Amino acid sequence: MDKFYDLRRDYSRHGLDESEIATDPIVAFRQWLKTAIDEAPEWFEPTAMSLATVDDNGGVSARIVLLKSLENGEFRFFSSYDSRKGQQLADNPAAALIFYWPYLERQVRVEGTVERTSRQVSQEYFASRPRGSQIGASISQQSQVIASRQELERLAAELEAKLAGGEVPCPENWGGYLLRPKRIEFWQGRESRLHDRILFERDADGTWSRCRLAP
Ligand SMILES: Cc1cc2nc3c(=O)[nH]c(=O)nc-3n(C[C@H](O)[C@H](O)[C@H](O)COP(=O)(O)O)c2cc1C
Repeated sequence: MDKFYDLRRDYSRHGLDESEIATDPIVAFRQWLKTAIDEAPEWFEPTAMSLATVDDNGGVSARIVLLKSLENGEFRFFSSYDSRKGQQLADNPAAALIFYWPYLERQVRVEGTVERTSRQVSQEYFASRPRGSQIGASISQQSQVIASRQELERLAAELEAKLAGGEVPCPENWGGYLLRPKRIEFWQGRESRLHDRILFERDADGTWSRCRLAP
């Protein structure tokens, strides 16, 4: 079976009306994220988002990362600066995020530009991570080819032995990114594909304008 023509759902849980969505998309996003967290099934990660980046030649790649905070209207996540995404973001800071909350029949699309957070923000978040994750981030040259799983486990054990229970320092090549949004679109699934789409665009003076898009 490689056709999925009959796999379809009708969406009927919510509507999205101009009168009920906040005029500031960050406020609206916070409300949607809160509902997504409150109503998430136990196995679902509501802060997971796909992150799309572009390389020098216009090649696109995407992967899931976790939203770790939303501050000053910036979407923050953490990664290795030497990873494939890190290299692409260094070459071209344009990026897009997608949140998909199927149980709410909602999608949010965010587009903008990315920069690194301060080293202090990186260190602060790194310090809050479980020790195993700190060790993992320290020994993994993310996106590089490795010989085997054993090699990874050996490097982790070696670092653990070297640190002898001491604090794991935040690696120099690891840290936070923040995406400054220019476009944020809220999508609410509706019956018969007549979905609601409300798009916010940031104007040159920093204020947001809003319109409705055809589904
Ligand atoms: C649920 C989930 C959460 C993830 N969270 C992160 C994250 O916060 N940061 C990160 O660097 N990679 C995260 N990953 C791994 C990335 O999807 C990806 O494999 C990795 O960042 C390497 O991507 P790159 O080679 O394009 O740089 C996550 C993967 C999944 C499935």
